[in-house]
Amino acid sequence: MNSEQRNILVTSALPYANGPIHIGHLVEYIQCDIWVRFQKMCGNQCIFVCADDAHGTPIMLKAEQEGLRPEDLVSVVSEEHQRDFLKFGVCFDNYHSTHSEENRQISCEIYTKLVAGGYVSRKTIEQAYDSSKKMFLPDRFVKGSCPKCGEPDQYGDSCENCGATYSPTDLIDPISALSGEPPEVRTSEHIFFELGQFENVLKEWLKQTDLHPGVVKKLDDWFESGLQNWDISRDEPYFGFEIPGEKGKYFYVWLDAPVGYLASFKNFCDRSDVDFNTFLNKESDAEFYHFIGKDIMYFHTLFWPAMLEGAGYRLPTNVFVHGFLTVNGQKMSKSRGSFVKASTYLSHLEPAYLRYYFAAKLGPAIEDIDLSWEDFEARVNSDLVGKFVNIGSRCSSFIEKRFDGILSNKVDSPELLETFKLASENIRDLYESREFAKAMREIMLLADLANRYINDEKPWVIAKDPNGDERLHQVATMGLVLFRIIAIYLKPVIPSIVSEIEKFFNEAPFCWNSTILSLANRRVNRFVPLIRRVESGNIKAMVEEVKNEDDQPTLSGSNSVEGIVSIEDFSKVELRVGLVEEASHVDGADKLLKLHVDLGDEKRQIFAGIKQAYSPESLVGKLVVVVANLAPRKMRFGVSEGMVLAAGSGGNDVFLVEPSEGAEPGMLIK
Ligand code: MSP
Ligand code: ZN
Repeated sequence: MNSEQRNILVTSALPYANGPIHIGHLVEYIQCDIWVRFQKMCGNQCIFVCADDAHGTPIMLKAEQEGLRPEDLVSVVSEEHQRDFLKFGVCFDNYHSTHSEENRQISCEIYTKLVAGGYVSRKTIEQAYDSSKKMFLPDRFVKGSCPKCGEPDQYGDSCENCGATYSPTDLIDPISALSGEPPEVRTSEHIFFELGQFENVLKEWLKQTDLHPGVVKKLDDWFESGLQNWDISRDEPYFGFEIPGEKGKYFYVWLDAPVGYLASFKNFCDRSDVDFNTFLNKESDAEFYHFIGKDIMYFHTLFWPAMLEGAGYRLPTNVFVHGFLTVNGQKMSKSRGSFVKASTYLSHLEPAYLRYYFAAKLGPAIEDIDLSWEDFEARVNSDLVGKFVNIGSRCSSFIEKRFDGILSNKVDSPELLETFKLASENIRDLYESREFAKAMREIMLLADLANRYINDEKPWVIAKDPNGDERLHQVATMGLVLFRIIAIYLKPVIPSIVSEIEKFFNEAPFCWNSTILSLANRRVNRFVPLIRRVESGNIKAMVEEVKNEDDQPTLSGSNSVEGIVSIEDFSKVELRVGLVEEASHVDGADKLLKLHVDLGDEKRQIFAGIKQAYSPESLVGKLVVVVANLAPRKMRFGVSEGMVLAAGSGGNDVFLVEPSEGAEPGMLIK
């Protein structure tokens, strides 16, 4: 192995700060983490940075909806993201935020250099404006009928029915998704980054960079259709950084988002002895990689390198693009139970399973990767449990019981050991080139060899031979020696399990070269169970939970972080008298009853969690109090169009609130 230490800076895309991490995101963060761990094991200096992507209209509006300041929303979500990453073993050297001083400073610096270089121009454009919300509307916040095929309820940028792309002002009968009112068309001066000026630089970068052919093809298409100027300003109100020298104009979120990579790294450098400029100046021989999904390629292979060039920074060494996660061949969806949040996954299954499964599927190409839960269960159980961990548990018990935990000093099959050591180079190359699926296949072939060795030698038979002690010692030791090498090869993928194995062997953390160490006469510890089999019951329970999940607000409560409801908000609740006309059990629900309630001028279907306290028969003909203006909620069993008021601690301690004598269905309760 080349003994020269490489200096590598790695980023994964910055997750938006308005939603939770889900298993789709994890394809990227796990892929990137495996690669970084591999580099670190090889002795390279590899720094892995990320941050939350905090700015933009959706985050601003989500905060408003939840009655929070955007800063508060962003910091709560960032905590959640970091907690999820930690549990999945995604180990950043630094996790920062684009809403940070470092990012403001570097974004402004880059912008100022772009202006000075003559790469920025201004133009007045027409845009949809919501006069009741007093803001310009991003394309996605205008809806209307497609100008081409007439399909109603389409977004302002493209039609889901016919695929046409257009601008929001082309929509037929447009309305603002915020206020429901038709938007005005207003003009405003915007600032543009002249991407076209960088065409030659970008083409040169493309030539020198070892981009995947799939990425190159995309870039060629884009060059072919011509590089357009890029609108980098947004008018207030906007959550972001105000543009230097402008009033009421902010950087578009995608301008300061990639700068967030540098900001996070800067923040890291300020707290360590790593030098920011050594990695990022034009002459730097450090390597600089971005891992991203295919949806954000344009930003990372055109705008971002052009911005770096224009501001005098070095360009990325490479951009590694992965495809999207599909589940059973389809887009992730909540109703199918496949939109699995990281936190939901964690309450049912081990993170190591998913890390291994993704590794077994990932390659360097942009192709989508598919997860099928049956395949997941079969793959993890057969490879990790059946092939890998099994070797350790089969051999360790003999060493522990018969040899006081001391390994033999003789290698029983030097050729087999040599095969295992020789595999190092190939597996290392596969990791380096992100051919993780191929690496896992090679490693499992080694596990097959180790299991075959044990099956042929049959230590459990030798154990019964009164003269078999020495032989048993050698065979069981050989098995553990092979087990250890496989563990070294798997360490980037399942670090938490392998750290238990390091402890078992009484060793310092494995590095890539640990394969060459001899184990002669070493004492090992008790072998602890390393991993359980995947149970299909756990998968089923997880899928069910996903189907039943409501969209949880990030923080409950409105107008305040502490969750206090203002009297104005409380008085918005409309309570009406309802008459229960029908009540029935719901198949598969242990708490819910389905009610048909007459509210005077309309009938509602309401699901109520009162099954343990009331029988359906006892409810028919009863008057209840209904929250009549609650937004309908889609549940697994159907839509619930309101809520029946009850009090109590739950279970059978639940009492329906009853309206006073003489109440009539539909009456408003004050
Ligand atoms: N905030 C931007 C990135 C800014 S980088 C300067 C963003 N955020 S995201 O939360 O939508 O996505 C973060 C990363 O996860 C992206 O690389 C995206 O491609 C990836 N994925 C999001 N959903 C995914 C799948 N379903 N499957 C695989 N990757 C997915 O984009
Ligand atoms: Zn259409």
